[in-house]
Amino acid sequence: MNTADNVTIHPCRVLTGTVRVPGDKSISHRVAMLSALTIGPSRLTGFLRSEDCLNTLKAMECLGARVEITPERIQVTGRPWACPRQPLDMGNSGTGLRLLAGLLAGRPWTTELTGDKSLRSRPMQRIQAPLEQMGARVELMGTGNCVPIRITGGALRGIAYPMPVASAQVKSCILLAALFAEGETRIAEPLPTRDHTERAFQVLGIPLRTDGNLITIRGYGPRGPDLTARDWTVPGDFSSAAFWLVAAAVLGTAVTIQNVGLNPRRTALLDVLKRMGADLAVVPETASLAAEPSGAITIRGADLRGTEIGGAEIPNLIDELPIAAVAGALACGTTVIRDARELRVKESDRIACMVANLRALGIPADEREDGMCVSGGATVRGNVELDCYGDHRVAMAMAILALRASAPVRIRGIACVNTSYPEFWHHLTLLGAKVELN
Ligand code: S3P
Repeated sequence: MNTADNVTIHPCRVLTGTVRVPGDKSISHRVAMLSALTIGPSRLTGFLRSEDCLNTLKAMECLGARVEITPERIQVTGRPWACPRQPLDMGNSGTGLRLLAGLLAGRPWTTELTGDKSLRSRPMQRIQAPLEQMGARVELMGTGNCVPIRITGGALRGIAYPMPVASAQVKSCILLAALFAEGETRIAEPLPTRDHTERAFQVLGIPLRTDGNLITIRGYGPRGPDLTARDWTVPGDFSSAAFWLVAAAVLGTAVTIQNVGLNPRRTALLDVLKRMGADLAVVPETASLAAEPSGAITIRGADLRGTEIGGAEIPNLIDELPIAAVAGALACGTTVIRDARELRVKESDRIACMVANLRALGIPADEREDGMCVSGGATVRGNVELDCYGDHRVAMAMAILALRASAPVRIRGIACVNTSYPEFWHHLTLLGAKVELN
């Protein structure tokens, strides 16, 4: 982990080389939980050793799993779950908390989940409603119906649930709870979202049917499924690769990212960058054990042009929108992001925080209720100090924009980057940038 709180980024004209990004955060959370659910040892290769995912492993330990972490490997040995003695602290992670809430709803105990200041401000009624319909009791004990959350589970029944928001976290929470329900659960998504849970279920032999936007799963009842432990391979995180893709695109240089996840529900940024004029080559590798496609991406930058990002594309690049806004800031013309109201309830209000930071660097940008409008082509101001509002993706996006500033830019509060990409600053240096951490 990087221990610095602040970073100074120096202007950089060339960023080039090859990088292997760390494991996918979404998949790491899921395989940690599913390994704890199966009986016996599972080896997790490529698991993301970031704060968020390590917190999920700690929670699995508190529930009874044996977790061994060595520099070479991570092994989770699933054992029958026991009611934890203390609240489970999921740190900064909405995914960790919402998915685990689904699993705990299936247990005949009362458990408490909590998290850091950011997580304690994020909406949880979106999981409370379906879990209560299934028969669990879900108390939101924080101010404004937020975390801490107390779940009294057991005796679940399947439901038909039309999801009001497109959210893979909510979908996965319901799917995990549905494993412990009597009867069938049917979930209708307003738009397709990332399907890592569904793919992992298929790998484990859990029958699940997808028909358009409708997902149907038959529950195993209160004892849950009897699953055989297996090893998992986690590909690199496309959302981490996104910073290098945009960096190369805006600097006009070439970067290759190896072993990165290419699940089509995650890679809409590639379409956006192509529309903007970047030259991309994707070389698929064979599917990993987790049935997740992966491969290498080489990007060659160009003079980018602005674009519109919205509609069904949004869930497939939801975490990439801060860095897409940076691409817009350095493109010619205007970039508009719409249909992305969800950005307001991520680790920070990413619409407000990104617009504030873009403006601080002299980029004309305006907030929209469901997105933002960024005018490209202005000079990026230097000698500026920015706050990243405790949001890892805001910090990394601003670091990439700072490469094109006229003078050094300082970013405060960068410890949050450890939640998803602890090696980020090291990789930035390896690709040729000059950064001072302090
Ligand atoms: C995630 C889903 C997305 C994403 C988050 C990870 C997941 O959240 O923003 O970083 O692993 O399922 P929503 O599903 O709430 O949009």
